[in-house]
Amino acid sequence: EAIEKGGYEHFMLKEIYEQPTSIRNSMLGRLNTVNGEVVMGGIEEYEHKFMNAKRIIFVACGTSWHAGLVGEYMIESLARIPVEVEYASEFRYRNPIINSDDIVIAISQSGETADTLAALEIAKEKGALIYGICNVVGSSIARATDAGSYTHAGPEIGVASTKAFTAQVTILALMALTLAKKKGSISESRYRELALELNNIPNIVEKVLETNVAVEYISDIYKDAKNFLYLGRGINFPVALEGALKLKEISYIHAEGYPAAEMKHGPIALIDADMPVVAIATKKNSYEKVVSNIQEVKARNGKIIAVVTEGDTAVKEIADHVIEIPDVDDFFDPLITVIPLQLLSYHIAVMRGCNVDQPRNLAKSVTVE
Ligand code: G6P
Repeated sequence: EAIEKGGYEHFMLKEIYEQPTSIRNSMLGRLNTVNGEVVMGGIEEYEHKFMNAKRIIFVACGTSWHAGLVGEYMIESLARIPVEVEYASEFRYRNPIINSDDIVIAISQSGETADTLAALEIAKEKGALIYGICNVVGSSIARATDAGSYTHAGPEIGVASTKAFTAQVTILALMALTLAKKKGSISESRYRELALELNNIPNIVEKVLETNVAVEYISDIYKDAKNFLYLGRGINFPVALEGALKLKEISYIHAEGYPAAEMKHGPIALIDADMPVVAIATKKNSYEKVVSNIQEVKARNGKIIAVVTEGDTAVKEIADHVIEIPDVDDFFDPLITVIPLQLLSYHIAVMRGCNVDQPRNLAKSVTVE
């Protein structure tokens, strides 16, 4: 087992560090690095269906559902196709409206999640094209679908998903670009710019991993907290959910992810000096708004750990701690903002003596309802 961990103390840490490679592998053969052209085999095969789709519905569970939320943002913004993101377990039991011009996409690391598989089967019965974004080759979901794209992240052993999430988001980014190009909803220059930037994300992730020391330091300060709140807006809202889920899963600290502006409708009542708030406050669309949300936390003595863009000054003035990461296009921010949050949950869990790779009560793949 020590050999399999490749010198890392836990599989989870190894998998976090594998992300520059796993993201690169997700793009391999799909993104032409010379001309920035993206080709997704599964979409080519059903191009007509995709071009005439009235709606794309993602069905997934857990971390894969969070990837779906990021995908919704990317596909709606770039390709202008309406997207819905559904918990597979809810979708399957509520007699959903599905038409033959819908495309139902299952996102699943294992490809074996019972609820996700069942949701797909319902969609298939109703005549929708069913598509899979799976990591495990030959898995049940991959076999059940009409077409799909493997994430190629390599085996993920740690129960808390890390590299599978960034691989899923990478595939969704490639999909959004492909669909936008085919639909003509993106200019040639913007398409090229985004494709080439996506191609460079593995190098950026490499740099973001250097925040590890700072994150470990912060983890030590907050490891005994009873609750955490994670805030993000726009495309980083799902990352707030994912950061909170990671902490719950492996450190058993109660954590909630919230859209930053929604805080005033409830969670703000919880904020006091014992409440660490992790804010994703990179210089993106909603930056100013997130800064004012952070001020609201500060005014109530909350402790703020902020993920910011390198060179940020406004958040630095108010936050207790900042984790600086490079600037990337808004669409790709989740691929890098999630990294310090993965590391934060990892270090806190280790410091609390938790079983990081096999947390209590959780399974890597949930093959029963
Ligand atoms: C379990 C795992 C999670 C995972 C979820 C969905 O709860 O512990 O890490 O996100 O299942 O799994 P899937 O294999 O369908 O992505």
